Amino acid sequence: MKMRVWNFLVFAVLSITVSACMNGADTMKGEENAQLTSPPNVPPPIKRSHSTKVKVQLEVVEKTTPISDGVDYTFWTFGGSVPGSFIRVREGDLVEFNLSNHPNNKMPHNIDLHAVTGPGGGAASSMTAPGHTSTFSFKVINPGLYVYHCATAPVGMHIANGMYGLILVEPKGGLPKVDREYYVMQGDFYTKGPYGQRGHQPFEMEKALKEQPDYVVFNGSVGALTGDKALTAKVGESVRLYVGNGGPNLISSFHVIGEIFDKVFIEGGDQINRNVQTTLIPAGGSAIVDFKVEVPGTLVIVDHSIFRTFNKGSLGLIKIEGAEDKAVYSGKISDSVYLPEGGAVQSVGEAVKVPMARTKQEQMTFGKQKYEAVCAACHQLNGEGIPNAFPPLAKSDYLNADKKRAIGTVLRGLQGVVTVNGKQFNSVMPKLDLSDEEIANVLTYVYGSWSNAGHQVSAQEVKALRAEKAPEKPQEH
Ligand code: CU
Repeated sequence: MKMRVWNFLVFAVLSITVSACMNGADTMKGEENAQLTSPPNVPPPIKRSHSTKVKVQLEVVEKTTPISDGVDYTFWTFGGSVPGSFIRVREGDLVEFNLSNHPNNKMPHNIDLHAVTGPGGGAASSMTAPGHTSTFSFKVINPGLYVYHCATAPVGMHIANGMYGLILVEPKGGLPKVDREYYVMQGDFYTKGPYGQRGHQPFEMEKALKEQPDYVVFNGSVGALTGDKALTAKVGESVRLYVGNGGPNLISSFHVIGEIFDKVFIEGGDQINRNVQTTLIPAGGSAIVDFKVEVPGTLVIVDHSIFRTFNKGSLGLIKIEGAEDKAVYSGKISDSVYLPEGGAVQSVGEAVKVPMARTKQEQMTFGKQKYEAVCAACHQLNGEGIPNAFPPLAKSDYLNADKKRAIGTVLRGLQGVVTVNGKQFNSVMPKLDLSDEEIANVLTYVYGSWSNAGHQVSAQEVKALRAEKAPEKPQEH
């Protein structure tokens, strides 16, 4: 009997201790200042295993900076960057939020955090005039990756000017560890002038209403994640992107060319999808994507609504350094000529049996075949090109003025601004792997068609130019 009481006592004490410990994990302890970071950086993972009071100090700054080379835009920002500062807290924390509106600003602003349980996500409590600070607090109840944004009227305009960012609420147990974490957020921008028009470009309400942006970019500007600002990782590392979409209008078809997402925390919640190619990120939504990088090279971050990428700016890069793994990715093993008529496949470099044109008429015939297979996709079958994208070859002053330059263009490709028939084009013509003979035929066909100058181009001329050193700089046209 005595033994039984003893057993019961031990059990009771243990139970109380265990439950106290479990509750203890939820007990608020101490306070700290949130460490905020500018994109593409993310504050370090939270190590503590208890809730705390987290003080966030965020300043709204209105500033004019480039949205693209030579194009300025007046952004309204949370913390001086687009997207705004990254905030990282833990499920169960109490956040004391202090929103300051810089005295030089012209507009009142506030903040609606999707991580807030409460009216307006904090919007009404944080409405702040220039030169003031508002304070409110909230308990972070739900873990996840949440968008925050300004909700001051006209809301669309405040968001369109760059007023959004991400707040990560880590679950109590933390997120799975990775080697690198980055912060990437898409946004669409509406400017008075079209994409690339130089100078200061004001916000254009009409285009915003029609949801026809001039710019769709990651991290606030064209090129924010390219060149020496490209993200980096090493072969063998795991990479996590905290991806948001500020909108205001577009949904992102988020994709990384050259990778597969091992895991996607769908819409920033705790549902995990695996082996994903493209994940949808709604306006005012997010996703966490994890992938391991296996081979060196450059990965390309895009919105797979692909005209946005190549014509409106939604392109970022991740440079992966490390040793090749030919078993995972071989690189190009061979380049063969494919001749369906003859059924023969031969390697370039060996004698390739392409039928030789003996007359100008034959050159025209062979050139037309090549043109339709290679060139027509961009320049169109009728040679008229596509306005604002691909220059016309029909009645082309650019082409007719300089045969040698035309040969050089087909030989080496062309990048940068060219003026054709009075219109500017700024696209990329890739270097095509065509033989001297093929280039001669295609150009003879183009020159002999659509009221062009009728020049004949010989394989010898192409060969001679190929032997010359490529111009150091792109020529001014
Ligand atoms: Cu605002």
